[in-house]
Amino acid sequence: MGVLAILTATLAVLGPAGAAASADIVSAAGQTAKIPGWSLQSVLHASDNLTALAKPGADVSGWYRVSARKTAMAGLIEAGVYNDTDLWYSDNLNHIVDRSVFGTAWLYREEFTVQPEAGQHYFVITHGITSKADIWVNGKKIADKTYQQGAYGGHKYEVTQLLQSGANAILIQAYETDYLLDSAMGFVDWNPYPPDNGTGVWRDVEISQTGPVTLAPIRVVHDWTPGKTSTKITVKVNATNLENKSVKGILSGQISLGPGKPLILSQSFTLKANEEKTLTATGNLQDPQIWWPAIWGDQPLYDVNVTVLVGNKESDIAEPRKIGIRYVESGLNKFGDRTFKVNGERFLPLGGGYGPDMFYRWDSEYVRQKFELMLDLGMNTVRLEGKQEHPELFEIADEIGLMIMPGWECCDWWEGWTYNTDVPSYVRFNEHDYWIANYSMLHEASMMQTHPSILTFLVGSDYWPNERAAKIYVDGLSTWDWPNPIVASAGELGYPKILGSSGVRMDGPYDYVPPNYWYGGQVGAAFGFGAEEGAGVGTPEIRSLKRFLSEDDLNDLWTKPNKGLFHMSSNVSSFYDRSIYNDALYNRYGDPTSLDDYLLKAQIMDYEATRAEYEGFASLQDAHRPATGVIYWMMNSAWPNLHWQLFDYYLNTAGCFFGVKVGARPEHVSFNYENRTIYLINRFNSLNKGDKGARSVSIDLIDTDGTPLSHQSINVTTKPNHSNEIAKVSGFNKIKDVAFLRLVLSDAQENVLSRNIYWLTPKNDVLQWDNSTWYYTPITSFSDYTSLQKLSTATVDTTVSDISSKTDQSTTTLQVQLENKSKLPAFFIRLVLIDSKTNENINPPFWSDNYITLFPEESLTLTVSFDSKLSSSPAVEVSGGNIKTTIVQ
Ligand SMILES: *[C@@H]1O[C@H](CO)[C@@H](O)[C@H](O)[C@H]1NC(C)=O
Ligand SMILES: *[C@@H]1O[C@H](CO)[C@@H](O)[C@H](O)[C@H]1NC(C)=O
Ligand SMILES: *[C@@H]1O[C@H](CO)[C@@H](O)[C@H](O)[C@H]1NC(C)=O
Ligand SMILES: *[C@@H]1O[C@H](CO)[C@@H](O)[C@H](O)[C@H]1NC(C)=O
Ligand SMILES: *[C@@H]1O[C@H](CO)[C@@H](O)[C@H](O)[C@H]1NC(C)=O
Ligand SMILES: *[C@@H]1O[C@H](CO)[C@@H](O)[C@H](O)[C@H]1NC(C)=O
Ligand SMILES: *[C@@H]1O[C@H](CO)[C@@H](O)[C@H](O)[C@H]1NC(C)=O
Ligand SMILES: *[C@@H]1O[C@H](CO)[C@@H](O)[C@H](O)[C@H]1NC(C)=O
Ligand SMILES: *[C@@H]1O[C@H](CO)[C@@H](O)[C@H](O)[C@H]1NC(C)=O
Repeated sequence: MGVLAILTATLAVLGPAGAAASADIVSAAGQTAKIPGWSLQSVLHASDNLTALAKPGADVSGWYRVSARKTAMAGLIEAGVYNDTDLWYSDNLNHIVDRSVFGTAWLYREEFTVQPEAGQHYFVITHGITSKADIWVNGKKIADKTYQQGAYGGHKYEVTQLLQSGANAILIQAYETDYLLDSAMGFVDWNPYPPDNGTGVWRDVEISQTGPVTLAPIRVVHDWTPGKTSTKITVKVNATNLENKSVKGILSGQISLGPGKPLILSQSFTLKANEEKTLTATGNLQDPQIWWPAIWGDQPLYDVNVTVLVGNKESDIAEPRKIGIRYVESGLNKFGDRTFKVNGERFLPLGGGYGPDMFYRWDSEYVRQKFELMLDLGMNTVRLEGKQEHPELFEIADEIGLMIMPGWECCDWWEGWTYNTDVPSYVRFNEHDYWIANYSMLHEASMMQTHPSILTFLVGSDYWPNERAAKIYVDGLSTWDWPNPIVASAGELGYPKILGSSGVRMDGPYDYVPPNYWYGGQVGAAFGFGAEEGAGVGTPEIRSLKRFLSEDDLNDLWTKPNKGLFHMSSNVSSFYDRSIYNDALYNRYGDPTSLDDYLLKAQIMDYEATRAEYEGFASLQDAHRPATGVIYWMMNSAWPNLHWQLFDYYLNTAGCFFGVKVGARPEHVSFNYENRTIYLINRFNSLNKGDKGARSVSIDLIDTDGTPLSHQSINVTTKPNHSNEIAKVSGFNKIKDVAFLRLVLSDAQENVLSRNIYWLTPKNDVLQWDNSTWYYTPITSFSDYTSLQKLSTATVDTTVSDISSKTDQSTTTLQVQLENKSKLPAFFIRLVLIDSKTNENINPPFWSDNYITLFPEESLTLTVSFDSKLSSSPAVEVSGGNIKTTIVQ
């Protein structure tokens, strides 16, 4: 054994931990370094002498090697034990994972080197470990699981006395997660639970070195309100004197925008022995540049750098932050509905609910693409239900101008209130849970405070926090100088006095409802603020489906309309099958005759459903009871999934995506299914140029063989940030079975701003409003679109040309020209961007428009852009309702 021990000790220095041996993890005051990776093992397969494992040189040669921020499952995938291809396929997740290692703790171990000297201080900093953890450094326990608790529990531990020159070891025992009893991140009914319930060191752990005074994260407050040409700006930071004698020093900060002259802040201070206090430094910004949500303006971000000097030597450097100057207001209107203003302008959140990866794997590029797809959709807001991820998520949103509604999650530990009848009665907050809630709020506030993208924080989801918890959350946010509105919950079941009513509705739907639902003025229809709603659509296209469904699964999709499907919501949820959706599809569009036919009909239904939702909320923003915002349920999924998403896990975009993209156009013209009126929509703000003034709208109704039924042309004036009714469609009495309605909005120069086509029947679906459940409203009589199956074939010519910029070759842009040669409409043409060599999708594609319908002899030019790295041989597959499928290179 002796020889072996020496050998492993040497290996530990040369092995993965050895990377740190060549360079100290931190070597100067003010440095903070992330632990770059871990050796990972289940307690079932590791030595049970944790004291020994927590010492440098311990043998972990049989452990998995993983990078930072990995739950146990994410670590196993990274280490090659499982792979996505295999895990996601069919119901593999149910039977290929060795579950014997879950439901118990996991060990994370790493070595790092430092050269401590007198006068230096060292810290281990955590940002949340699921569900709780014991932590050792060099064989000494520095934290117990009763303290290091919660997915969002971040703490800073001084370890100066424990470190030695050279190799040091840190060992973390992360305890298993029970969603109902632990403070973690659950998935409710979104998808099957990950086999490990998300257990592990999912966020960074850092080592930092300081002098006698250490800094907490900074917070920044300013007094800018719309119209002011200068703002007082204050940087606040808690500083702690680590010494037993008082120290004097200087807090020094810089606020800068680009290469311009920075604003210098400086403040001297004295700290008594071991004292912690807030240091502040204040300055004036003249003509501050204002941060706007994307469609309203730019996103100037100021760098804020703060250091603390003691005796002219740097003692600590605060984590640099970027801030934006903007002003968010919120309140309730006379109907009790939640309203928002950003920079003084009425702000209508049109957004979606965010899904993290099922294993909480973080990929900045993937999240950036999701957010870019949201902006491409015309959305301006993302809701995070208890999934605050990492600082990068907020940084990306700051940079691209997407507003964020973070908040706590529903249906488990987080809502253990006595009045919550949706969780078992043993799920109740005890004294310690309030303590965890406090630390979680303080930590998340410290991460979010500086970000201009934050719209509000929701301290509850389905249920509101009780008075005690609400006060803890409100106090926690105010301790961090929270500058944004706080909302009690995402529903209206009740509220704590300290916050009052949320003004935010959670009345469904979550499953299929027809397009006229949104104009019904009841339940979840378009009025007030809908915190999570949608028609439950989001069917992926065939190339995505084949990546995660077997032949049998694909057959089930169209031959067994009521069957529970693994890739829907979890098997205990109301959304495990597609029966409500399929009932509508079969009745409205006719029984599917093949998988292709089913998918086409699904895309048609998905498109109609999402367009109507967004048009409903955008067009009724000035209605008698105004629509004040909506969050689509959900934006995207944690895994390859069949519903509740606007783009799929692989970032492919299908029918529901383009329904939103039309419905959420900032300048738009839309049709109200209930009273057949036309709305002119303008979601720009009054500061944007070119968005006001003269517009013309043409309204054409034709039947299925192209015969005109009515034509109207009107001149109107558009008003920024307003929507109004401008006409009523004529000719409805002439519709036999199905008609096509085309609305075209043009500016004074005849540029088309929005082109929008509906397929309509003389009779709408009839809703049984009185029989609405929390998740849908049944339909008593369906609209009959079945004659769309019998359209004569139209001929559409397609030409594709490369119009990429010569200077920027990172993006390829293709122009697709479509010409309908027939005297018939060409219905629901879908264009799929593929690589001609592999016949696979190029994801994500950014189309100007798609899933379009052409009137007789109409031509249309579209574009699609994608990352050039993804393909050098793109092609476009053209298929749809009544045209032949072709591939155009
Ligand atoms: C665990 O290892 C330490 C040495 O690191 C040793 O002192 C201790 O006796 C061991 N405990 C057990 C129970 O073997
Ligand atoms: C994924 O895992 C399966 C089963 O272990 C294996 O057969 C397959 O080759 C792996 N695929 C990839 C892409 O690694
Ligand atoms: C996951 O949490 C659920 C409670 O929501 C619990 O029943 C289950 O045992 C947990 N699974 C593991 C592997 O810890
Ligand atoms: C400060 O004083 C306390 C108690 O007197 C002592 O335990 C501690 O080691 C001292 N710390 C330093 C850094 O001198
Ligand atoms: C800053 O320190 C003071 C004094 O210890 C404390 O009351 C306050 O809560 C701290 N603020 C933050 C943001 O930690
Ligand atoms: C602030 O810090 C960032 C990141 O370290 C750095 O890029 C920037 O130059 C610094 N700005 C100033 C004004 O010191
Ligand atoms: C049409 O319906 C909307 C609600 O969907 C309502 O606000 C509007 O006043 C109605 N218009 C007419 C002309 O009845
Ligand atoms: C709309 O305005 C255009 C250009 O000013 C004019 O030619 C046209 O006659 C007007 N149409 C109607 C219906 O008023
Ligand atoms: C609600 O459903 C019940 C049972 O299916 C039915 O008898 C009743 O007529 C429905 N109510 C309405 C308003 O449609």
